Amino acid sequence: MFPVRRMRRSRARNIQPILRQTHVGLSDLVVPLFVDHGITAPRPISSMPGQERYPVESMGRVAEDIRNLGLPAMLLFGIPRHKDEEATGAYDENGVVQQAIRDIKKAVPEMVVITDVCACEYTSHGHCGIVGNTRQGTDLLNDPSLELMNRIAVSHADAGADIVAPSCMLDGMVASIRGALDEEGREDTLIMSYSTKFASAFYGPFREAAESGFSFGDRTTYQIDPANGREAILESELDAAEGADILMVKPAGLYLDILSEITASGLPVAAYQVSGEYAMIKAAAERGWINEKPAALESLTCIKRAGADLIISYFARDAAGWLIEEQ
Ligand code: PBG
Repeated sequence: MFPVRRMRRSRARNIQPILRQTHVGLSDLVVPLFVDHGITAPRPISSMPGQERYPVESMGRVAEDIRNLGLPAMLLFGIPRHKDEEATGAYDENGVVQQAIRDIKKAVPEMVVITDVCACEYTSHGHCGIVGNTRQGTDLLNDPSLELMNRIAVSHADAGADIVAPSCMLDGMVASIRGALDEEGREDTLIMSYSTKFASAFYGPFREAAESGFSFGDRTTYQIDPANGREAILESELDAAEGADILMVKPAGLYLDILSEITASGLPVAAYQVSGEYAMIKAAAERGWINEKPAALESLTCIKRAGADLIISYFARDAAGWLIEEQ
């Protein structure tokens, strides 16, 4: 008790750095990227200042830039030339993501390539899999969509992806994809499940970036209600039991309680700082209402402190520069 316990002693300018409990490192960060089959020059994403869609042909160079920043991993989203009801473009061996994976691996073989396994960018209706009639009207069909996810995941693994990341929140998706990968001799491909993904309003800017907005309904019949903590933990436990190698909580910053609890699974846990979390900081910084660099680094540090082993963030490339400056 005061005056014996003086906490401010440890906050002296030269002492504080040696007592810091949490450090975000370059190897914690994953760069999410949008690859567009329909463009020949990078195109800025207006809802996410500083982010661009890239043409497939540029992905080798983009990967080299990321490697040169000291960052080890990328997460790919594809925007195909054509969409249809069945998302056939999602598992085309010459599809946008499949081609991007091959180009990245040719340019930077050691780059960890993670792919989003979902159909929403490839379906004309914008939902994450096959839709059809249910008791509640037209909705995402669970079991018929699993086969589609298997095909997408196998096509990514065949193209050279290290990690496939199913994001559609279907029941049984991890077991189904694991089975399909193993059957194709891809037992070395990891599955990072978007195991605890909330039905969040903070995905808004992404849906513009990836052209993945839905033409009817919403995603609340497959993503989790933000109010439900226990359900969120159970979702991740089920994916762990189905064989996921890495779990994920998404969004990150508003769900640190869930993230911290999920680390008890013993599996590595990723956190996805989503488009809306990024856009809020960017927009406030553009108006001079917030200082971007410390705000962004604080957000990443707190996600790490809550227990994330990996942080997927649109700030990753800027943060790499800032972290190196600070060393
Ligand atoms: C689905 C997917 C989404 C995001 C990542 N994967 C969108 C959604 O569920 O509607 C959102 C990512 C972000 O907001 O940054 N393919």
